[in-house]
Amino acid sequence: MADAVSNPEYAWFNGRLVPWDEARVHVFSPVVKYGTGIFEGLRGYWNASEEELYVFRLAEHLDRLAFGLKVMRFDAGPARAEMERAVLEVLRANRFRAPAHIRLSVFLEGDGEMSATGPVGMACTAVHRPPTKALTEGLAAGVVSWRRPEDSSQPMRVKANANYQNGRFAVQEARANGYGAALLLNGRGKLAEGPGMCVFLVRDGVAVTPSITSDILESITRDSVIELLREDLGIAVEEREVDRTELYAAEEVFFCGTAWEVTPVTSVDRLAVGDGAVGLVTRRLQERYFAVARGTVDARAAWRTAVYASEGSKRAAE
Ligand SMILES: Cc1ncc(COP(=O)(O)O)c(C=O)c1O
Repeated sequence: MADAVSNPEYAWFNGRLVPWDEARVHVFSPVVKYGTGIFEGLRGYWNASEEELYVFRLAEHLDRLAFGLKVMRFDAGPARAEMERAVLEVLRANRFRAPAHIRLSVFLEGDGEMSATGPVGMACTAVHRPPTKALTEGLAAGVVSWRRPEDSSQPMRVKANANYQNGRFAVQEARANGYGAALLLNGRGKLAEGPGMCVFLVRDGVAVTPSITSDILESITRDSVIELLREDLGIAVEEREVDRTELYAAEEVFFCGTAWEVTPVTSVDRLAVGDGAVGLVTRRLQERYFAVARGTVDARAAWRTAVYASEGSKRAAE
């Protein structure tokens, strides 16, 4: 099985499994020269009692990728069925029996210039991703001076490689200032999100998160969290413009995203969130999120794609 220290054995590259080191693009390709690519980050959750790996919300990730391909005006690329196959095959080939982070990338190869629309390549990788300390302890976040670009400059709701230059600046500034994570405002000075995650706060028992017109990525975890808060935990959720100082007034703050899952934030700009301990809503939400993602409860089976059971049924049908 792929472990935390070594690279996995296989990657998917342009239609087939290849040894990890052979998944390469040329230095003269548009994706290298201009960052002309889009991607999805997904997670596989290991359910030990069922001996099953579940990919979380695969269909929604493929939907968002299709939206990104349209906005980027790429030539027709691999079919959706091939992308789904790439995700499942790369996990099976590397025999993942542990939490996995999957990256599905669509990018421009060849030797085109900035306006190129093809040829379109596709790759999928998966690496082991154990839980972080921040999940239990929370972390200190700081608002950075860099702003999220506006939709009229560069659409941040597309998960485009080039958008992550903004995130990189934010992370560097936050780290230089001693924070564990960055928070970004948008061009209108309202709260947007973190460089790879969305943000929620809890005020007077109501969960609040920046609206999808706040120059955020339309996060699949954010969508899941809204549904779990409302329907499973009975907590009201508001999607609206959020001021920076509301973070200081909040009882709880947490990040969410595929990579960040549900991560508590215990201080913002060195001001304690609430009493500085991880809050009850955040803890309850984490518990429900992991139960649903790992399939230790039956609820929301449509959010989980079984990697090994579907392999068995495919073989039986052959
Ligand atoms: C900028 C940004 N915001 C939010 C998220 C969370 O999105 P999702 O929940 O779809 O992973 C991500 C990606 O993980 C991201 O890169």
